[in-house]
Amino acid sequence: MGKIFVFVNQKGGVGKTTSAINIGAYLALEGKSVLLVDFDSQANLTSGVGINAFKPGIYELISGGAGFDSVLRKTALSGLSVIPASIDLSGAAVELIEQKGREFFLKKALEPARDRFDYILIDCPPSLGVLTLNGLSAADVVLIPMQCEYFAMEGLTLLLQTVKRIQKNLNPSLIIEGIFFTMYDSRTRLAQEVVREVSAYFKDKVFTTIIPRNVRLSEAPSYGMTISQYDPQCSGAKAYRSLAMEVMQRGA
Ligand SMILES: Nc1ncnc2c1ncn2[C@@H]1O[C@H](COP(=O)(O)OP(=O)(O)OP(=O)(O)O)[C@@H](O)[C@H]1O
Ligand SMILES: [Mg+2]
Repeated sequence: MGKIFVFVNQKGGVGKTTSAINIGAYLALEGKSVLLVDFDSQANLTSGVGINAFKPGIYELISGGAGFDSVLRKTALSGLSVIPASIDLSGAAVELIEQKGREFFLKKALEPARDRFDYILIDCPPSLGVLTLNGLSAADVVLIPMQCEYFAMEGLTLLLQTVKRIQKNLNPSLIIEGIFFTMYDSRTRLAQEVVREVSAYFKDKVFTTIIPRNVRLSEAPSYGMTISQYDPQCSGAKAYRSLAMEVMQRGA
């Protein structure tokens, strides 16, 4: 049965989407069937894997306007599929607030996915709003990308409080598999300090692999390519491959 991971951090631009795409890509290259779920109305994940047919997508699926099969798209990478997002998803946040069981729409919508895919990776928007709560309710495992900067720790505390609340009220079996560092620049002392401090505090909840700052990772999505397709030898590609292996091993 497929396992559902959710990438969450309310801070913007920390690497949620880049990580979902590239961890997904390396899991697919390991022969797994992988579904990426774009749950952000910015639709960066969708365009980042080269899909430009945004509808019907996740909004239509959760609102009952389309069936599971009609929202699936295959990417150019074998084994890697995506459910796209469109700007319509921003309206869903408002519509959902009004409804009973509003935190469980995504969970319900993804029910058919577990039998069809080994890994389902949900990319969330940069907020702790109703969409992210849906992501956390639907998932088995939370993955938290973190940039190595001063305010990251404060954001992390708030995020972990939210996850604990979800575990208590909505999804008791949710596991925090871990925190991983992105856009790491070894030349700055601050980055080293953040890694040391977070690792000392969260211990085995911190992944060993650190994703370096690497311009190739930021170029790849503009060509609609994963890093494995765009530049498999670059430092970012090697790091995401290693992180995907860690995700697989921890989740076994
Ligand atoms: N390791 C990296 N090195 C260099 N650039 C990166 C790296 N990871 C991500 N980027 C770039 O940084 C920007 C933010 O990354 P990304 O979109 O993955 O973050 P996000 O957390 O999904 O953002 P948002 O909160 O807006 O959804 C993007 O332009 C991306 O290409
Ligand atoms: Mg994103």
